[in-house]
Amino acid sequence: MRLLEEKIKTDGRVISENVLKVDSFLNHQVDPSLMNEIGKEFAEIFSNEEITKIVTIESSGIAPAVMAGLHMNVPVIFARKRKSLTLYEGLLSASVHSFTKNETNDISISKKYLNENDKILIIDDFLANGQAALGLVDLVEQANAKVVGIGIVIEKSFQPGAQKLIELGFRVESLARIESLSNGEVLFINEKVKG
Ligand code: G4P
Repeated sequence: MRLLEEKIKTDGRVISENVLKVDSFLNHQVDPSLMNEIGKEFAEIFSNEEITKIVTIESSGIAPAVMAGLHMNVPVIFARKRKSLTLYEGLLSASVHSFTKNETNDISISKKYLNENDKILIIDDFLANGQAALGLVDLVEQANAKVVGIGIVIEKSFQPGAQKLIELGFRVESLARIESLSNGEVLFINEKVKG
């Protein structure tokens, strides 16, 4: 998605060979008009999948997921990482280990929002090692619902998540695919290195 790639080029900051900082439009401050375009794009890409609900994970997955839900006219459920005061009964849970942050979170969704007839689109902001997406797949499958696609805003294609999910048979659609963050520069897949 060209608009997103341009935004990453102008406003993203390469922190290391593995980490891109995009907190000016996605991870802290949020750009609503970009999120709207992202939501529209996901709705178009997955228009043939008869999606009934979107599942994401707090916190940075929520903005793109809600915009996709708006354009697809379906509800959005976000998995929680922390225990909620009011959400404690009938929970589906899974354990998600983050290699980037070196921490493990128990994530959960209330059983009442997923059922066996649901066709689910999973949306997340970043795809690195795929652990968050796999945790969400686990929750959806515990409810006997079906994952029909995984929509990612920024895929770091040099990390193993995307390949892992594709090998498991999932349809993975990423709006920006980063081949490398070497030398302080973002290089997208298919982008020619300037000579
Ligand atoms: P994985 O789910 O694909 O295995 O990813 P990983 O565990 O490595 O990432 C854990 C957290 O770090 C996630 O956010 C993910 O979005 C974020 N992350 C991974 N790589 C990058 C990166 O290059 N840049 C940025 N900005 N974030 C990255 P989270 O802990 O769920 O945070 P949030 O959603 O509350 O913001």
